Amino acid sequence: YVLGLDLGTSSLKGLLVDKSGKVILSKSADYPLESIKAGYSEQDPQHWVEAAWKVLKAMIQELPEMKEKLEGISFSGQMHSLVLVDEHQKVLRNAILWNDVRTSKQCEEITQKCGEVLLKSTKNIALEGFTLPKILWVQEQEPEIWAKAEKFMLPKDYLAFYLTGNIQMDYSDAAGTLLLDVENRVWSTEIMETFGISESFMPELVESAGFRGNLLPELKETLGFTRDVKIFGGGADNACAALGVGIVSEGIGLCSIGTSGVFLSVEETAEKDYQGKLHLFNHVLANTYYSMGVTLAAGNSLSWFKNTFAKDLTFEAMLKDVATVNVGSDGLIFTPYIVGERTPHVDSQIRGSFIGIDTHHELKHFARSVLEGITFSLKDSQNLMENVANKQFSKIVSVGGGAKNKEWLQMQADIFNAKITTLTAEQGPGLGACMLAALGCGWFENVEECVTTFVAYSEEIHPIPENVVKYQQVYELYKKAYPATKELTH
Ligand code: XUL
Repeated sequence: YVLGLDLGTSSLKGLLVDKSGKVILSKSADYPLESIKAGYSEQDPQHWVEAAWKVLKAMIQELPEMKEKLEGISFSGQMHSLVLVDEHQKVLRNAILWNDVRTSKQCEEITQKCGEVLLKSTKNIALEGFTLPKILWVQEQEPEIWAKAEKFMLPKDYLAFYLTGNIQMDYSDAAGTLLLDVENRVWSTEIMETFGISESFMPELVESAGFRGNLLPELKETLGFTRDVKIFGGGADNACAALGVGIVSEGIGLCSIGTSGVFLSVEETAEKDYQGKLHLFNHVLANTYYSMGVTLAAGNSLSWFKNTFAKDLTFEAMLKDVATVNVGSDGLIFTPYIVGERTPHVDSQIRGSFIGIDTHHELKHFARSVLEGITFSLKDSQNLMENVANKQFSKIVSVGGGAKNKEWLQMQADIFNAKITTLTAEQGPGLGACMLAALGCGWFENVEECVTTFVAYSEEIHPIPENVVKYQQVYELYKKAYPATKELTH
C-alpha cells in the first residue's frame, strides 16, 4: 500500500491505495481556521500533526494489515501558507494561510522593488496569498519573531518534517513562494538578497516523487509499522489534483469548480510569457510546469445565488429547468466577480453583475446565466493559454461541482469548444499524493503507466456546433462587461 495525505485548509484526508490503483480506505480529520481580524487567516501547525495522528490511528485500527503493508507516504498540501520555526525547529507563530489578505502593502513593495525580476524568475506577480509577502509582513510587524526565524516551510513540508526530521520542500510548492527561480529550479538569490533573506532560511529542495527520508524510528514503533515506511516529496494541491486526474502532458485541460474555480494545463517548458496573467508553477513531474487561472467565486457564485434567491430549493431543483432555457440565457449575462477576480483581471475591487434583465426572465434564466458566467470566466484562462501559447485542447477534464450537472457539462463543452470528460470516481488531490508515493516506491516504469492504473474517465461530452457559435457571440459581450462595470464598482 501507499498513503496520500492531503493537508487541506479545513481538514486532512488520508487515502490508502494498493498497486492495482484501488482505494482501500480513506479517513479524514478536521481542524479550525483562526481569524482574529478581518482579512486574517491562520492555523496552528500542531493541529495538522494531530489530524495526521488521528487519520493514521483510525486507518490502522480499521485495517491492522496496514502495519505490514504500508510502503510509502506522500502529500498534497494547501499552497503558499507560511510556517516559521526557530533554531530548535519549534514553530514560532501560527501559520499565515494562503487565503489571508493582510499583505497588500508588502505586495506593492515587492512589485516596486523587483517586479520585473520577480516575473522573469518566479513567473508570477506578487499576490497577497503568496508566501514572500507574508515573510515581509513578519519582518515588519513582528521583528522579535523574525529575529528568531531560522527556517520556513509550507504546511505539508511541516508535516513531512514531523515524520522524517528533515526540513525540505518540493519544487511545485516552492514555486508558490515567490522565491523560486522556476525555470532553473533554484532559490532566487536576487530576490532573497533584495529582502534580506539568507540561504540558511531556505529549505532543501526535493522532487515531488523524491525520497525525503524514512518515517522516524520512534513514530514507526508507536504506530506499530513492521517495515521502514518511506516518505516522498509531495506537491502543491493544484498540481496533485492535476496528476490525480491524469493531466501530465500538454493538450488536456483541467476545469475544477469548487468554491473557487481553476483552469489548468501542463506546460512542457517555462518559456511561455503570460506576463503574470496566469500563474506558472513547477508541476509535480520533474522538468514539467503548469499554467493556471483562477476564478475566485465559481461554486461560490452559485451558492450565493441559491442562498439569496432560491433558499428553499435544492441545487438540483434550482437547476432542473436550465436545459429549457436557450443558449445565452435569452440575453441575460452574469459576471461572477462577487468577491473580486483573479484571472485575468487581478482586481480585488471589481464586483459582479447581471446585465440585460428582461420581464420574461425567470429563476431558470438567472440560474443558467450564473452557470454560463462562471464558465466564461474560466474560458478567459483557456483563452490566454490558446492565444499566448498556441495551445489546443483535445480534451478537458471537469471535476468538482461543475462535473455534477449534465447540462453544465454540456455548457462547458460548448463554451470551451472541446470534448469534456469526467472521472468515474473523484478522489481529489489525495490521489495525486498516492501516485507520487507509488512513483517514489518504483511501482511503475513511467508516469503514464501510473495514470492508466489510477485514473478512469467517464464518457466524453462533445460540443454542439451551433451552440459553440452562439456562445462565441455571447462570450464577446461577456468580455465587454468587465471594462464597462469597472468604473461603477471601484
Ligand atoms: C493557489 C491557491 C489555492 C490554494 C488552496 O494559488 O491559492 O488554490 O492552493 O490550497
